[in-house]
Amino acid sequence: MRNTRPILAWETLLDLEAERSDARRPLRDRVEAALRLAIDEGRLSAGAAVPPSRTLAETLGVSRWVVTEAYGQLVAEGVLEARTGSATRVAEQAGGAPVRTPPVPRSVALLTAPPTRFDLRPGIPDLRATPRSRWSAALRTAVAELPDHDLAAAHPHGYAPARDAVAAYLSRSRHAVADATRITITHGATDGMGMLARELHHRGHRAILVEDPSWPRLRAVADDNGLRSIPVPVDGDGIDTGQLRALASATGARAALVTPAHQFPLGAALAPVRREELVRWAREHDALVIEDDYDAEFRYDRRPVPALQRLAPDRVALIGSLSKSVSPALGLGWMLLPPDVAPPASTAPPSLIDQAALAEFLTRGDLERHLRSSRTRFRRRRQRLLDALERALPELTVTGIAAGMHLVLPLPPGASATQIAAAGTAIGLALTPLARYEAGDRHPESLVLGYGNLDDALVEEAVLRLAALLGGR
Ligand SMILES: Cc1ncc(COP(=O)(O)O)c(C=O)c1O
Repeated sequence: MRNTRPILAWETLLDLEAERSDARRPLRDRVEAALRLAIDEGRLSAGAAVPPSRTLAETLGVSRWVVTEAYGQLVAEGVLEARTGSATRVAEQAGGAPVRTPPVPRSVALLTAPPTRFDLRPGIPDLRATPRSRWSAALRTAVAELPDHDLAAAHPHGYAPARDAVAAYLSRSRHAVADATRITITHGATDGMGMLARELHHRGHRAILVEDPSWPRLRAVADDNGLRSIPVPVDGDGIDTGQLRALASATGARAALVTPAHQFPLGAALAPVRREELVRWAREHDALVIEDDYDAEFRYDRRPVPALQRLAPDRVALIGSLSKSVSPALGLGWMLLPPDVAPPASTAPPSLIDQAALAEFLTRGDLERHLRSSRTRFRRRRQRLLDALERALPELTVTGIAAGMHLVLPLPPGASATQIAAAGTAIGLALTPLARYEAGDRHPESLVLGYGNLDDALVEEAVLRLAALLGGR
């Protein structure tokens, strides 16, 4: 029987709302896409009437033009049929016809939905506080002032003013021993790690010691470039240098990847004796230490600890990035290499204009200005999160709070972080089990709670929801 329901099913309206939230596409396209989806999935079947354009426009809070344009396009394609004096309907061949395109999975529609409301993912900076106007100003200056002859010049290790600006920034802010000729401009830490892994492989390395737990993407990049990653345990003082020595001599590894400023994800700063011990090991074995200098700037209990590179510029390669401190969307970073490591030339370097903007951004002091305001905001948010956790879950003791944008919450006995994280997804909480970062060693079941992109106004509610999940096991 012909389905002549005059209104859209409520799911369809929800899809329309989800489509509307993807602000990158014109509204007309989103309404059109949502209708097409509803038809493809059979929620609007052949012959079904769509609401009058005025009604749908009012329901969605959009102009009537948006709806008539969307209907008009679908009519032109034969998906809808418009007849004078009667409602616009889903065409017979569109709804339920066997040759329709395969139904779009609902999850695809949800990709355009707003991101998780309670964003507790680690490693995401405050996206609401991205310094858009300062970056735009730097870009404008770059475009206006880049000399013509620089536009087509080869910059194998990066645009010289960007290398100068990074060297100056690393010396004044991270107390690194930085010379612009040792700097390569990259797309970020992962890109730098890839170049270094290829260079190490070229020099005969086949293994690299990595912290366990650690950020899996850098381990994967090493593995992909022929360096087997060997996990080394981490404790409250950072990487265990005794175990590092033992594993290095057992495997012959002469390279190590570490996060001395703030171990990711457990949060310890590498203890001074271990810094010295790591450098001693590297000198004794002609080894290279790769310092992933992420999160270094957000230290709350004291001033940021200088880069490890300062202790041994001849043994330490520092990789840095704007991804976590400013925005992952910029895709910019750097690496500072020891004199005997030839700076690899990037085959696909960042755009020259982006590099010139980076030079401008750093030289104007905009990065440090942004870091200062971020530090103040994160310190306040971190305290609010700690207070809320203390009130809602007083029996749990958080760790890794001295720096960065995340903390570690060990769960009560019997709780599964994976199950809690899965249950969190259903109620808008993005939670990350510590196990996601572990290679071998298993720490107690824990969640890594990021607060970089958590809306201040939602901190308490996020914790109450988490407590409810833990209480309801
Ligand atoms: C430990 C660690 N280092 C570095 C980065 C930055 O990597 P990239 O610059 O490639 O985005 C991240 C990003 O999440 C990270 O977690």
